[in-house]
Amino acid sequence: MKIFNLSMECYPVAKVGGLGDVVGALPKYLNRIEGIEASVVMPWYNKIFVHEHEFEIVFDGWIHQSHHTFQVQVMKEKSKVLGFDLYLVKIPGLLDRDNPYGYWDESQQFLAFQHGVLHWLTAMKIRPDILHCHDYHTGLVPFMIENCPEFRFLKGVKTIGTIHNGEYQGQMNWEMSGYFPWFYGEQWGQLDWNGFINPLAAMIKCCHAFNAVSEGYLHELFESFRGLEGLVRQEHAKAYGIINGIDVEVWNPATDSFLDFNFSEENVVIGKQKNKIALCKEYNLDPDLPLFGFIGRFAGEKGADLLPDIVWRSIQETYGALNIIILGSGDKNIEYQLKELTQSYSNFALDLGYKEYLSHKIYASSDFLLMPSRVEPCGLNQIYAMRYGTVPIVRYTGGLRDTVEDVSSGGSGINFGAATAKDAVHAIHRALHIYHNKELMQRLLHSNMNYDFSWEKSAERYLEMYKR
Ligand code: ADP
Ligand code: GLC
Repeated sequence: MKIFNLSMECYPVAKVGGLGDVVGALPKYLNRIEGIEASVVMPWYNKIFVHEHEFEIVFDGWIHQSHHTFQVQVMKEKSKVLGFDLYLVKIPGLLDRDNPYGYWDESQQFLAFQHGVLHWLTAMKIRPDILHCHDYHTGLVPFMIENCPEFRFLKGVKTIGTIHNGEYQGQMNWEMSGYFPWFYGEQWGQLDWNGFINPLAAMIKCCHAFNAVSEGYLHELFESFRGLEGLVRQEHAKAYGIINGIDVEVWNPATDSFLDFNFSEENVVIGKQKNKIALCKEYNLDPDLPLFGFIGRFAGEKGADLLPDIVWRSIQETYGALNIIILGSGDKNIEYQLKELTQSYSNFALDLGYKEYLSHKIYASSDFLLMPSRVEPCGLNQIYAMRYGTVPIVRYTGGLRDTVEDVSSGGSGINFGAATAKDAVHAIHRALHIYHNKELMQRLLHSNMNYDFSWEKSAERYLEMYKR
């Protein structure tokens, strides 16, 4: 079975968040199953990985978008170092930039990517069994192959859509239909949602099966999905909930080269302690205090706006009996408020930016990892935390709910109910009690490290969906 994953991100080529982690791991684990040939197709970015690896050009052609003509080059990574074939699509002027997102013309970029991929497959007569589209950026592919005469060769190829994050749907004005490879108008209903072209809605309508990245999140989508709940209910027969795994070869505290000290379950207490001392020294924190970490995008869905309140309240209410370290960036107002707090509280360290190496160090050094998410389709941070012997403190939602059971019911972490600073700080107080109960804390470290997070089980579930 030949599967092409179409995505904007793929670790270690280009990663902004969990989408990159998943697309960098799922095909690698699928390829270990007999008879599966999974690969990744993504845009070309000006990234270190791209410059440090050799590629061969496998296609060179042209696409027409609105009044413009663009060159499309597809290149294939030669060494197969990632455990799957990696194809990069380069479109000078559109797909040749530094990062996946944040450009004024990104709707056109995503359209050109999808158009370019289908043009290449058609021209080269490559007919995969499955085109697996990740998030709305590639959500128009199922529509295009069914409706566009230019891609007639691909008609009938099975399409899968994975919803990593339904908060983003890629809605655009109908004027953008001029950029479509072909558009007659009769099929407008497949693209339209409430008067706009909605690529995520189009993906759900036109694909053969779709999944959310956890059972819990899928159920939430049936209830409320930024206006698409009626649509997913209507299409429920083709809906799956499949929890993400993690790449246990990349995320392994025993071999992780980003860590100051490697450790495994046998020496988890001392190993974490050593990492914590090193990190605390770097950030001027007291290593004898419990350390709480947060890593992530400063966005409302992550509950990042609650962080300033959580920081000052928890430090004040505990009379400074804890340390907090935050790594992330995003909303400028949140960044500003947190920066201000570093002036008043020496127990609080902040690193603004995206730093892969530092995230690993924080997972390994923290005693607790905080995730006050309002929405969390799966969440990988809590799983990485557990793998590194850290206790997650999570709001009870989506994938967090599916992966972290409360310690009071024998689980691996702490749950709290409302996305408020009050509830989060209450959970922090509970964490401090656990921290001082050495026996319980040790039990948690060991059981968390033993939790089965591997991709094997989830890859099997993807395979079931593909087969169906
Ligand atoms: P999302 O994809 O919604 O951001 P996930 O929990 O699925 O959330 O995945 C987040 C991924 O991005 C994890 O690998 C996490 O370690 C990483 N990450 C998030 N913010 C940063 C940052 N500032 N620096 C380094 N890694 C980060
Ligand atoms: C999205 C979600 C996150 C999920 C990730 C990978 O970014 O916000 O919860 O873990 O995709 O599926």
